[in-house]
Amino acid sequence: MVVIKLHTEKPIPPLQVIRLYQDVDWWPARSKDGVRKLLGHGVVLGAWEDKQLVGFCRAVSDGVYRAYVEDVVVLGTHRGRGIGRQLMDRMMRELNQIEVVSLFCSGKLSAYYEGSGFKPTGQVVMHRSK
Ligand SMILES: CC(C)(COP(=O)(O)OP(=O)(O)OC[C@H]1O[C@@H](n2cnc3c(N)ncnc32)[C@H](O)[C@@H]1OP(=O)(O)O)[C@@H](O)C(=O)NCCC(=O)NCCS
Repeated sequence: MVVIKLHTEKPIPPLQVIRLYQDVDWWPARSKDGVRKLLGHGVVLGAWEDKQLVGFCRAVSDGVYRAYVEDVVVLGTHRGRGIGRQLMDRMMRELNQIEVVSLFCSGKLSAYYEGSGFKPTGQVVMHRSK
């Protein structure tokens, strides 16, 4: 059985997040220390199957007007079982006071996020990377 918990309810070890990142080839440069720091900010959710982290997502937020959802991921072996939906449902409950919640995704995932109430916009996403 998979349960969704806030990081504040059940602390997430950074190495388990890095394992999830590796599963989807994300963020190879993120260190254990960097991940430990990010876990201390915003709303952070883990999907747990016993002691194994099988899903993760987080949101960066000002607590009132804006929040951005990031790093939504479910372990490859565990997809298609509703875990991603449970993570997003819980995240939307955690952010229900926020005026606008945004996220970045590829076009092929827009249908997935539309299921959580998101709509594509005509805005251009701009990044300035270090
Ligand atoms: C996207 C992801 C988190 C979905 O997790 P999941 O646990 O497999 O999703 P669920 O089983 O909860 O599916 C929820 C719904 O979304 C749909 N869905 C799942 N993946 C989808 C996809 N890639 N595109 C469109 N719809 C999708 C499912 O059919 C399901 O629909 P339903 O509720 O009508 O039955 C998972 O596929 C993943 O980790 N992908 C790799 C990382 C990634 O791309 N993350 C998003 C970054 S923006």
